[in-house]
Amino acid sequence: MGQFFLTGLCIFVAFLNFDYVFTQTETLEISALGKLKGSFMETRLGKRIYAFRGVRFGEPPVGTLRFEPPVPVKPWNGIFDASVEGPACPQPLFQLTSEDCLRLNIYTTKLPNKDHLVKRPVIVFFHPGGFYSLSGQSDQFGPEYLLDKDVLLVTVNYRIGSLGFLSAGDPKLLGNMGLKDQVIALRWIKKNIETFGGNPDCVTITGYSAGAWSVSLHLVSPMSRGLFHRAIAMSGSVTYQQKLGTNQKNLAIKQADVLNCPSDTVENIVSCLRTKSATDIANTFNAFDEWYGDPVLRWTPIVEPEVPGVERFLTAEPIDLIRQGKVAHVPFIGGVNKDEFGATAILPVEEAAKGNFTFFEQWNSDWDHIAPISFQFERNTSRTNYISHELKKAYLNGTATLENIDGISNLYSDALISFSGHRLVNLLAASTNMPVFYYHFMFQGRYSHATWSDGRPFGVVHHDDLMYVFYISRFPKFVTGDPEIPTVEKMTAIWENFARTGEPIPKDNLLFKNVEWKKFTTRHNRYLELDVEFTLKSGLINSERMAVWDRLFPLSSGNY
Ligand SMILES: *[C@@H]1O[C@H](CO)[C@@H](O)[C@H](O)[C@H]1NC(C)=O
Ligand SMILES: *[C@@H]1O[C@H](CO)[C@@H](O)[C@H](O)[C@H]1NC(C)=O
Ligand SMILES: *[C@@H]1O[C@H](CO)[C@@H](O)[C@H](O)[C@H]1NC(C)=O
Repeated sequence: MGQFFLTGLCIFVAFLNFDYVFTQTETLEISALGKLKGSFMETRLGKRIYAFRGVRFGEPPVGTLRFEPPVPVKPWNGIFDASVEGPACPQPLFQLTSEDCLRLNIYTTKLPNKDHLVKRPVIVFFHPGGFYSLSGQSDQFGPEYLLDKDVLLVTVNYRIGSLGFLSAGDPKLLGNMGLKDQVIALRWIKKNIETFGGNPDCVTITGYSAGAWSVSLHLVSPMSRGLFHRAIAMSGSVTYQQKLGTNQKNLAIKQADVLNCPSDTVENIVSCLRTKSATDIANTFNAFDEWYGDPVLRWTPIVEPEVPGVERFLTAEPIDLIRQGKVAHVPFIGGVNKDEFGATAILPVEEAAKGNFTFFEQWNSDWDHIAPISFQFERNTSRTNYISHELKKAYLNGTATLENIDGISNLYSDALISFSGHRLVNLLAASTNMPVFYYHFMFQGRYSHATWSDGRPFGVVHHDDLMYVFYISRFPKFVTGDPEIPTVEKMTAIWENFARTGEPIPKDNLLFKNVEWKKFTTRHNRYLELDVEFTLKSGLINSERMAVWDRLFPLSSGNY
């Protein structure tokens, strides 16, 4: 509490040491740690993007470096080919992966040269994917919309799944590898981004879902302090209904068991898992499935033990750190979507239409077992069954039926996403002086990440808002005249203005019909509703549902 912070402009500081030359031919060469060859892309409105993809920021975490904290990349000789996409980190059902995946993509429309200094706000994006999937590759999160604005974008890969998050509360398996990867990417950016025309003193970290968990963790990590100046956490936060705890040794044992490794000691687990291929490890994903794909979140960050000589990413439970005011005091935007994980209802409903009520039968006969798995709360404690019953009563009036399937949708949404976002903005407003902006994304476009089998969008689900910030290649690229374009223009304007000034909405901007996005405070709960129009609303998003969670997971209990 009470720490001083500035929300001023990211001031252009006019000095830059050029100790390199670049020539612009068909491609482009820049040297910092070494030379890089980039390629050209084009924004939605036709500006040239200088793209450097697959740039290695960490040494390949292979062999004895597997499961270890990352090692920053060493200078290289020759020209690093950043004109092609780099690999994703190992994950199931994805072909183009490699363990040599500590890569980032840099996009800008203006490079500096010796006559012209450029220092644009830097936006760093940490991808979603539950800490076990996706990547920062350009087909998943393309720069074509955002780069119509004067910002520099960096998308970051980080280790995921067991390779990124396996932990045992033991020096031989500390955990949080994927988050430390993100930190060394941020350090790389601080050191090198000026070369690309980015301002290292004006860095906005953004992330979605697992990436938003990451952003909320960087707020409280001592390793991340000073590396960023604004933060956007979309649809997710580490501040959910469980403690992180100090390890996931149960998963380490399971990972060893499914690959026929000994699981008696951490040393045996780690040394045996180092002999397995990254693909074999990634492909055991389904072994961690407990009930039709649940729990959605399997590997989590943990509170690390103290080990001499090793930097700790996380020193205590994030909620405790926030409540003690041990937070990077930066302007913050957080929010959730209308339907988030609601589309989980599609399969049960479509099966029921065929006369198959398996899901409903299991929910009703085995709720006490299923609820803590699917809705990710404490298991096998004296409160577990009580919480299960209360959730079933509040969302389903005691029984799961086809008629109240919305209750199942809302439960998934709130358990996996909405409650954590609600708790984060409330905690930040209560314990810090940070400017906190809260939103509810409601805009229904023509496309969605979740559709009924006849192709109709389910609603505004998890990830859907990202398609107005990034070109996501599984959807058409929006063009002038499309009904999605006003949303693309508003979302990208907010990102740019926030990155530049710490305020989300540009002043005097007709695009927003002069709506004011007032801060969320403990005295004034309010949020911006992002629909066809953007409207300031009073109160909390889904306030009645959130009250159930606040009651079941009170901060005073220490059980969160
Ligand atoms: C009913 O649905 C469940 C869940 O999708 C599935 O596992 C099962 O095979 C289905 N049963 C029939 C008879 O289609
Ligand atoms: C549940 O807790 C009891 C008592 O603490 C313990 O004996 C039991 O092994 C636990 N069961 C599971 C599945 O963890
Ligand atoms: C809830 O269930 C009870 C029976 O268990 C029923 O009497 C009541 O009408 C239900 N309420 C609603 C709103 O459906």
